[in-house]
Amino acid sequence: MSRDVSVAILADVHGILPAFEAVAADVEAQAPDRVIVSGDMVNRGPQSPEVLDAIHARGWEMLLGNHDDLLLMWTRRDPALPAGWFDDPFWASTAWCAAQVDAAGWGPTLAGLPMTTRIVEDDLPAVLVAHGSPRHYREGYGRHLSDAAISEIVEMHPYEVLVGSHTHIQMERRWGHHLVLNSGAVGTPFDGDARAQYLMLHGEGGRWRPEFRRVAYDRAAALEAFATSGYLGEAGLSARLYQAEVAVARSLLVPFQMWSETHDEPRDEAAWHRFRRTVGRSLRAPDEAGAAAVEASGLATDDG
Ligand SMILES: [Fe+2]
Ligand SMILES: [Fe+2]
Repeated sequence: MSRDVSVAILADVHGILPAFEAVAADVEAQAPDRVIVSGDMVNRGPQSPEVLDAIHARGWEMLLGNHDDLLLMWTRRDPALPAGWFDDPFWASTAWCAAQVDAAGWGPTLAGLPMTTRIVEDDLPAVLVAHGSPRHYREGYGRHLSDAAISEIVEMHPYEVLVGSHTHIQMERRWGHHLVLNSGAVGTPFDGDARAQYLMLHGEGGRWRPEFRRVAYDRAAALEAFATSGYLGEAGLSARLYQAEVAVARSLLVPFQMWSETHDEPRDEAAWHRFRRTVGRSLRAPDEAGAAAVEASGLATDDG
């Protein structure tokens, strides 16, 4: 008879060390057979090198996410990135995080990471894990993914179970005999629940059973690190928006960026307040630590 196995899949830590440490403790308490850190270890948050150190110290395998790749592209001034970004104050947070990761010597390790990995165990269906989908690291499994896209993915990659991340929202979806799962995010969940999220897969009786886990962590420490690291002071509006995303557990920066591009608006603080008034995006935090950070940020005031 085959033994039961378990595999932890966590992703989107985004340089939020206290969230990672809490998830790591929760994972270690369950002693899974394998742990996969499925991309976006870095960028957005202030502690990218510390997160990479903490993953490396545990010997856990990593996959490449779009943010890990973005920092590599930034450091080598890759021509695939718009040339205007390098001098745009809005991208100072990316420059700051890229410099940290580069100075700590993590570039070659990140550059060597695979895009996908398989989980192959006796008497269990094979699982394919990628940061987004196996065909692109920014194609996350989520509500917006069309039936046609899922159909194409499982046709190209006929695994019974496919696991992705990237959207920062946990998801389970059946597609024929396929099971499509999203691990959610450790560092910056976007569903309004501030707890760190990850996925534990349990192989039992010839099938995989997903368990979506949520772990409370020291939110005040995570939010304070944005200031004490120098990140908030040195990287400007985008660092403040990333801190606010952690505070409210919602996506803010990318919607603002897309709105500014569509409406030909600058990406500065006054435009941020126009965006908030127009789109009505809430900055209500789910806990006291988040509310205090939003209050201190000035991003929720209406006098911009
Ligand atoms: Fe992410
Ligand atoms: Fe991502």
